[in-house]
Parts: sequence; C-alpha cells; structure tokens
Amino acid sequence: MSKQKIIVANWKANPLTSDEAKKTAKGIVKYAKKYSKVETVICPTSLHMEAIAKLQRKPVVKLGSQDTFAGTVGSHTGEVTIDMLSKIGVSYVIVGHSERRAMGETEQDVAAKLQTVIQNKSKAILCIGELERDKEARYLTFVHDQLIHSLGDIEKKDLKKIIIAYEPVWAIGAKDSDAMKGSDMYEMVIFIQRIIHDAFGEDVAKKVKILYGGSVSSVNAGDILENGHVDGLLIGRQSLYPESFGQILEIASKTK
Ligand code: PGA
Repeated sequence: MSKQKIIVANWKANPLTSDEAKKTAKGIVKYAKKYSKVETVICPTSLHMEAIAKLQRKPVVKLGSQDTFAGTVGSHTGEVTIDMLSKIGVSYVIVGHSERRAMGETEQDVAAKLQTVIQNKSKAILCIGELERDKEARYLTFVHDQLIHSLGDIEKKDLKKIIIAYEPVWAIGAKDSDAMKGSDMYEMVIFIQRIIHDAFGEDVAKKVKILYGGSVSSVNAGDILENGHVDGLLIGRQSLYPESFGQILEIASKTK
C-alpha cells in the first residue's frame, strides 16, 4: 500500500467570521471523507479552532495550529499555549512559518517552540525555506543552517514527531506556475535528507517526512507530489476553497 500523504490547509488570518470558517471546514470535511486515505489537516486561526473542532464528532480532518507559545499556561499576555491547543483537539502545530519569521521570530524562538510541541503529544510541522535563489547556490547553505538551527537540541528519537515543510519564500503567494517544479523539489528532498543524515544518521534520514508549500494548486499538485517525491503539501490560498482543495485531496489520494 502506498504511504499516506499529508495535506495541510494553512488558513493564515482567514476567514473573517466563525460562520465562514465553519462553512469552509464543512466543505473540506466532505472531500476528506471521500479521500480518507489522505491525512487532511486544517490549521485555522486560534479563534475559529473550537468551532471547527465541534463540527466533527468522529474526526475526519485533523486540527492543526498555525503557531504556539513556547511555554505553559500563566501570565503571558496574548499567547495561546500548547496545552490549550491540545485540549481542544489540535494534533499538528506549524512552527517557524516564513510569515512569522518575517515578523521577527528567530531560529532560537523556533527551536524553543519545536521543543514545546514535541514534549506535548502533537506533531510539529517545521517550515524552512530560502528567501531567494542565487546562481552561486548560497541558498543551499541558508537552508542547511536554518534547518539545523531551527532543530536546536532536538534528539534523534524525537525526529519522528517533526515533519519538515520546505516552503521557498519566493514561491509563497505567487502564481501556481511559479511554484517549484516536481523535479526541482526532488533535489531539495534529497538535500534535506542529506542534512538529516549528516546530523542524525542514515536510519532516520529516509524516514523524515517532507512537505512542499508555496502556490500549490490542483494544476501543480500532481507534479510536485509525484516527481517531487514529497510526503505531502502545505497549502495557503487554495485551502480556503473547498472545491479546489478537494481536487488536491483527490490527486493526493491517487499518488503513490
Ligand atoms: P500559498 O501559501 O499556498 O498561498 O502560496 C503557502 C504557505 O504560506 O504556507
């Protein structure tokens, strides 16, 4: 049997109301039921999380958070903790998305959040990716260093709780024709496996799950999944349209 693909909806700061969020989630649940071989994860804002959790008596889609606070409940104005998130059913947490890094989140912050997530029962989706590409391939050094620093003091045994989402910043929010080609993504998959190999050993390198994110649509999803040899996709804009997202789930369900 083929490996289960992981398709993650990152709603970012959308939609405006809880009713809209429920409507969109219901639409996605309908497709997720049909393509149940795929692990479908919705990451709404913290505000809409509970409403979506209540929609499903028997979870068809998994709930994910777009971020977490790296600490426990207490006097931390404005924060949402991992315990709060897991209490309402969150099982995946995105850590280090480029939009949060652009707001000032450092590699040390990301590493601390990663520790918080793996000490909880949740899985972390660690985002990495260069801002731009250069002919001298300095972006490879950037990706290497960003990954190693973001992993911080992670122990080898905890790697199975971490999914790496490679999202080149230049491909996020672009046209679907500007997303990475599957064959280019395959090179990146090999490169990331190499980094994990050198840092943690051969046995874990091949097992680490790698997602692609950046302008994924139903037009390019097949190429990226098939030729990129990725374990899944992290999807922004197209995850707000159940029908388009459903098409991607269908493609993922058919990809070996
Ligand atoms: P996009 O966003 O699919 O809208 O490019 C992806 C992301 O930022 O995770």
